[in-house]
Amino acid sequence: MAEFVLVCIAWPYANSDIHQGNVTGSHLPGDIFARYHRLRGDHVLMVSGSDSHGTPVTVKAEEVGQSNLEVYEHYHARFLELFRGLGISYDLFTSTHTENHFQVSQDIFTRLLENGYLYRKVTPQMYSPETGTFLPDRYVEGTCPNCGYTGARGDQCDNCNTLFESAAQLINPRSKRDNTSLVLRDTEHFFLDLPAIAEDSLSAWIHDDKEYWRPQVINFARNFIDQGLIGRAVTRDMDWGIPVPVEDGYDDKVLYVWFEAVIGYLSATIEWAKNSGDPDAWREWWYKPAARTFYFIGKDNIPFHTVFWPAQLLGARGLYSDHPDARLNLPYDVPANEFMNMEGRKISGSRHWGVWMLEALDRYDPDPLRYYLTTNMPETRDSDWSWSGFIERNNNELVANWGNLVNRVLNMTRRYFDGVVPEPGDLTAADEALLTTLDAGFATVAEFYDGCKFRAAVGEILRLSTLVNQYLEETSPWTTIKTDPAAAGRALYVALQAINGLKVLWAPVLPFTSQALHEMLGEAGTLFGEQVVRRYDEATHSHMALTYDAGGAAGRWERASIPAGRQLPPPRTLFKKLEPELAEQELAALSRPL
Ligand code: MF3
Ligand code: ZN
Repeated sequence: MAEFVLVCIAWPYANSDIHQGNVTGSHLPGDIFARYHRLRGDHVLMVSGSDSHGTPVTVKAEEVGQSNLEVYEHYHARFLELFRGLGISYDLFTSTHTENHFQVSQDIFTRLLENGYLYRKVTPQMYSPETGTFLPDRYVEGTCPNCGYTGARGDQCDNCNTLFESAAQLINPRSKRDNTSLVLRDTEHFFLDLPAIAEDSLSAWIHDDKEYWRPQVINFARNFIDQGLIGRAVTRDMDWGIPVPVEDGYDDKVLYVWFEAVIGYLSATIEWAKNSGDPDAWREWWYKPAARTFYFIGKDNIPFHTVFWPAQLLGARGLYSDHPDARLNLPYDVPANEFMNMEGRKISGSRHWGVWMLEALDRYDPDPLRYYLTTNMPETRDSDWSWSGFIERNNNELVANWGNLVNRVLNMTRRYFDGVVPEPGDLTAADEALLTTLDAGFATVAEFYDGCKFRAAVGEILRLSTLVNQYLEETSPWTTIKTDPAAAGRALYVALQAINGLKVLWAPVLPFTSQALHEMLGEAGTLFGEQVVRRYDEATHSHMALTYDAGGAAGRWERASIPAGRQLPPPRTLFKKLEPELAEQELAALSRPL
């Protein structure tokens, strides 16, 4: 039976370009997972968007002398370009700066208030008497009370690494913006009553059966909740963001960016439903208990997705429902990834240490990049990108194993049989055994994909591909074509069926080359349906969204048969060998200052 699967991917801050660590951490695993479920015929929605509010964007805007809106739109457009080029197949990639998202965020806030989970509290905050505004901690600089360093930030001293609970701990606090001195001043904010939600429902939920969760994720979440939660402010003194939907005294405040960004998963589903013409369709994923929601994120996002967002969902029960206790679906799984480093060092935007994926697409095809990022996905521990590793794996695995297999089979079919799929006659036991093994591979690989074990999936598919290569060696059609043409035809027929199966197994990871092979095998249509780009919508302020019509994928998760007698189109090479010198060039370009 077709399942409802919601694929939620961490919303990238619209303040910098996306690097390989972001891709392997969230966008790519989510995409592989979504594509796998589309091939199965499940009802998949894959959503995310630009995280466009908060200090990450305002700091950048001040740095480059542009408006917040300009900054967010600039990066948003580049995200969309990257996702198209790399085949990250969002059903909707929107942003937090839409009318719809404002509305849904405010509705959740209001619902939490009605359900009694928000309270007001006054706390002291850094304030600039000069400009008459409160300052977020990261705009505050001062003298470290521990080591005396005068350039300590409001949240941390970079000299002695002391973390501050509040910028108020700094001696002589100043504004980073204009160097004016700051004072503490009382300000009121709304706080989410996490202890109450934990007691009502969150603690029970986190202790439910979660055997299938990654141990580092579930252990973190359980410890975090068990050690006792405290109320968390969900509003901020800022002007860039979503207005707080109350009557009194919150004109200069907005919803805290982390409070509203996670709501994007729900609001994007609602936006998708509106666009689809069936505005209620989102309920299938959020209110049907059988639907499964997955969150693809990096490890730094774990508390937000395993504790705070579930608390918001539990606290907002009854939202948009006739039943006051209707419960929104909580995360089914949060397969968070660890980090990817590069050449043994932490990826860093400011140090120009990373692979900016949109630029990389000018030099490399998308599937080899996807392949290397999948084989190196930091599923259980931090991993490392190295340029020489990328080139080796491309050459030794993609080209030498899978690409070479496809080349040999298609080229021999062309040379010996004029590109017509040969008649097999009666299959031998070895032929049958190979195809049976491949069919069994569908079950094994399915389990890996469904369990978000993408490295294991690739390992298994590569093993199956090796078996087909061995089969070719054993049957050596290049010899039998002279001595026993029927045997050569039979071997190529079997090998063609085998690569047609492997094409499907690979498709979630290698969608472009699987599609190319699909066509080279004379199959009609697309494996995954068409990509559609929806432009800015004046009426809803919905920004350009990448939408994906996956109608074509349904029910393809099997080894379809390629009929004998079919004329195949001329084959093309799927993967290019990369020269080892490229690694040195890439490294040299990296160490060059910006
Ligand atoms: N923008 C955040 C980051 O890059 C992630 C936000 S995930 C969301 O770390 F769900 F909150 F949007
Ligand atoms: Zn210090």
